[in-house]
Amino acid sequence: MRKTVFFIFLTALVFAFIATISMVSAQKKPAEPMSIKLEGGKLPAVSFSHITHTEKTKIDCVKCHHKDKDPKNPEPCIQCHLIKEVKDNAPIAKEAYHKNCIECHKESSAKGQVAPTKCNECHKKQQG
Ligand code: HEC
Ligand code: HEC
Ligand code: HEC
Ligand code: HEC
Repeated sequence: MRKTVFFIFLTALVFAFIATISMVSAQKKPAEPMSIKLEGGKLPAVSFSHITHTEKTKIDCVKCHHKDKDPKNPEPCIQCHLIKEVKDNAPIAKEAYHKNCIECHKESSAKGQVAPTKCNECHKKQQG
């Protein structure tokens, strides 16, 4: 009897272990499209599509997820880019986003692949 109980316990332990490993190695999936809005922000949220940027336009993950050990399993930008203060040289979130998003869009538009560069093209009023 004791032996059986111990065996069941051991089996459960092995399954729990396997489940944990597979959860850790599973890739996080970003929402599609995602809606980006900084806490306390006054403008409408910005819609961002990974499909547009990584499948339609073949941009490497690391181009945006630039400081992650594994850019395929990134931390949110605000982990390092705080809303109000510069930390470890990392510009505040609004500047980091604007520099990343708008610089590339300007370069891309100049080369003929049009991408939004005006305020209300990104900070779009929600319909309805
Ligand atoms: C290419 C897209 C893009 C364009 C163009 C753009 N922004 Fe942003 N902006 C963002 C993103 C992304 C954020 C971070 C998410 C958020 O809170 O909106 C942001 C954040 C902000 C914030 C801080 C959050 C808030 O709502 O108060 C302000 C202010 C802002 N933008 C103003 C502007 C102004 C003014 C312009 C035009 C001169 C502009 N943005 C153009 C993408 C853009
Ligand atoms: C053009 C810029 C850009 C590219 C390229 C990009 N991402 Fe992202 N990704 C973002 C932004 C912006 C966010 C929102 C981050 C935030 O919440 O602060 C994000 C969020 C994510 C998240 C959710 C993170 C979380 O925990 O909230 C995952 C997962 C992710 N991206 C994976 C990827 C992978 C995998 C690739 C490459 C195939 C990729 N991204 C390419 C800009 C990009
Ligand atoms: C793990 C921390 C970390 C994460 C996550 C992170 N950054 Fe940064 N970022 C930094 C640091 C630190 C700097 C300061 C400059 C440097 O060391 O390159 C920086 C600088 C920048 C710059 C300025 C680069 C320049 O040439 O002036 C931009 C733009 C930027 N980050 C955008 C982003 C965006 C967009 C995201 C999310 C998709 C993001 N970062 C996620 C740490 C991070
Ligand atoms: C390295 C280049 C690059 C970066 C960085 C980048 N984009 Fe783009 N983005 C593009 C290109 C190229 C297009 C045009 C794609 C097409 O042909 O439709 C685009 C299109 C878009 C569009 C319009 C199409 C759609 O999917 O709705 C939005 C909105 C947008 N980007 C938001 C953002 C935001 C927000 C960021 C920053 C978090 C960002 N992008 C960063 C290159 C970039």
